[in-house]
Amino acid sequence: MKKVLVATEKPFAKAAVEGIQKILQAAGHEMLLLENYTTKAELINAAAQADAIIIRSDIIDKDVIAAANNLKIVVRAGAGYDNIDLETAKAAGIVAMNTPGQNSNAVAELAVAMMVYAARNNFNGTSGTELKGKKIGLHAYGYVSKAVAAIAKGFSMEVYAFDPFVDNNVMVEDGVTPVSDVNELYSKCQYVSLHMPATAQTKKSVNYDLLARMPKGATLVNTARKEVVDEEGLLRIFAERPDFKYMSDVEPDCKSEIAEKYTGRFYFTPKKMGAQTSEANNNAGLAAARQIVAFFETGDTTFQVNK
Ligand code: 3PG
Repeated sequence: MKKVLVATEKPFAKAAVEGIQKILQAAGHEMLLLENYTTKAELINAAAQADAIIIRSDIIDKDVIAAANNLKIVVRAGAGYDNIDLETAKAAGIVAMNTPGQNSNAVAELAVAMMVYAARNNFNGTSGTELKGKKIGLHAYGYVSKAVAAIAKGFSMEVYAFDPFVDNNVMVEDGVTPVSDVNELYSKCQYVSLHMPATAQTKKSVNYDLLARMPKGATLVNTARKEVVDEEGLLRIFAERPDFKYMSDVEPDCKSEIAEKYTGRFYFTPKKMGAQTSEANNNAGLAAARQIVAFFETGDTTFQVNK
């Protein structure tokens, strides 16, 4: 019997937690639950007892790893794993995994909802615009982008994508036009939706030079990570381009400056909520539980991200 800690500062829907518990119990494991915690000390204390941990955006850093003496596996129930210190985990013999694709539809729906909200002037009653016939550029083309592309096509948008790591045929098969130069994506598309992970290469990569290329009525949608946008460049664009809007599922650090000066040209969710649907919680949470069961039963490391 292993102790599997579900540590979620932002909890899963109740049904997802019940589903996780069922899977773990059926495999003979015990679930420990730490929800809505407010201090790192609580996470460290709980991690000290765990053989496995399921997390969301919860931070698994050196201190947590140092305290978790029995820990063999941590699964990020979701896509981005920039919240796990992968190297330290690897050095401690801890397998880190994610659950790719499991919450992507929820994030995609939010991205499109934010575009509609921007196009309709934050629902303030004034005459807005429609998405039909407009161009959307997907910056990176993974599971979320694929889902955004499908929804955007339902709105009769023209869909373009830039991703140097994805074969053009993947996009073409989805009815998406591949763009080989990121500058061209921003020059062409009034709407740009960000879908890359936060890595050393992507952090601050959405900069002034790219944003300045966007056509009139530019709207940047960020359901990825705040770190991928260069906030100095963002503030400069806000100041220079009264037509520029920024919709983000992560509050930027410069939120108060934008809120103070640029009313009506932004929307920021108070808490990251792209993946906050019962469906996404179920998909990602249950996948995480199954991956842990398979890891302990057969040594399956299919979704390991720190090999
Ligand atoms: C992800 O990387 O899967 C999303 O950003 C969702 O993050 P969350 O589980 O913290 O909501």
